[in-house]
Amino acid sequence: MATFFITGGCGFIGQWLTKRLIEEDHEVTIYDIKADQSIMGASPRVKIIKGRTDDAESLTRALKSAKPETLVHLAALLSATAEGNPQDAYSVNIASAWPLWSAARSADVKSILFASTAAVYGPGSEKAREDRYHIPSTIYGISKIYGEMVGTWFSRTYGIDFAAFRYASVIGPGRGEGGASAYTSLIVQKAAEGEPYTVQVPARAQMPIVYVKDAVDATLFVHRNIRSLDNEEMIFNVPGISPGPTAGQLARIVKRKIPKARIDFKPDEKIARIVDSWARDLDSERIARAGWKPVYSKLDVLVDDFVREVTSMGKDRRA
Ligand SMILES: NC(=O)c1ccc[n+]([C@@H]2O[C@H](COP(=O)([O-])OP(=O)(O)OC[C@H]3O[C@@H](n4cnc5c(N)ncnc54)[C@H](O)[C@@H]3O)[C@@H](O)[C@H]2O)c1
Repeated sequence: MATFFITGGCGFIGQWLTKRLIEEDHEVTIYDIKADQSIMGASPRVKIIKGRTDDAESLTRALKSAKPETLVHLAALLSATAEGNPQDAYSVNIASAWPLWSAARSADVKSILFASTAAVYGPGSEKAREDRYHIPSTIYGISKIYGEMVGTWFSRTYGIDFAAFRYASVIGPGRGEGGASAYTSLIVQKAAEGEPYTVQVPARAQMPIVYVKDAVDATLFVHRNIRSLDNEEMIFNVPGISPGPTAGQLARIVKRKIPKARIDFKPDEKIARIVDSWARDLDSERIARAGWKPVYSKLDVLVDDFVREVTSMGKDRRA
């Protein structure tokens, strides 16, 4: 049994990660502004503390009382929200990083896992590699580069294990709005729920994706092996399917599986511009060399599992 502290644990990835950790008999403390106690049911192995990552005092108190071995930092404003509220993005995504890593150090945390993003890469048609020079054009991408760099510095200076994950667009049941890439998930989710969905990017928009179960698995794989991996920088691209499908291809596959799906396209210029500013193809060599590969690397298999999960969640809610 190990102990985890997850900032932003009430969000999309946080809930899937927490579910997996509980299944593996670990203990989880979630630190989130939402503090939705219903999220993980009544599991005695999950404690939820309401708080903001940009409130250093409350965060330090929470970390010191939880005394976790591992900190997973997921709390952030996502791309579209960050771009519309750059000052808040600065406070939450950038200014929180230093106090957070410091609080982790004073609470004697052994390892830090940081949710970075493929949005750290600027536009380009070549495969985006971790060691390639990158110039993100969004405040979101910039904020994540900062978190990675300060985390790497903390690790080198104070000996805390640190790994950052440049996830492709993470798709799966429960993803909300807020990220410009949310359409990759909502196209499937809304159709599976019998709801109409308007896609805010053109049908030609394309980005790499990763199923949320694979994103969680990659994170925990690196965590388990963190001491034996010999990368100078513990920063990993995490794609599942790359290059990913275009929005049009995704809509077509969903309509094939759910013929009643109502999907239309009404591009929003701001959202489309953000998506266009990201790399279309993520290199997976570094994480593959570490020994991890995605289970859901075929779009067909991924969409089938996604629809099955949404359907069974709907049944559970109705029961
Ligand atoms: N979803 C994706 O496609 C994707 C892709 C790459 C990287 N990421 C990164 O993964 C992480 C999780 O993403 P997600 O999709 O689960 O997002 P989400 O919006 O579903 O979850 C974020 C959670 O953080 C909480 N939060 C926000 N600001 C906070 C603050 N100041 N203090 C405490 N809690 C706060 C929110 O209440 C929410 O529960 C983020 O860091 C995101 O940048 C996500």
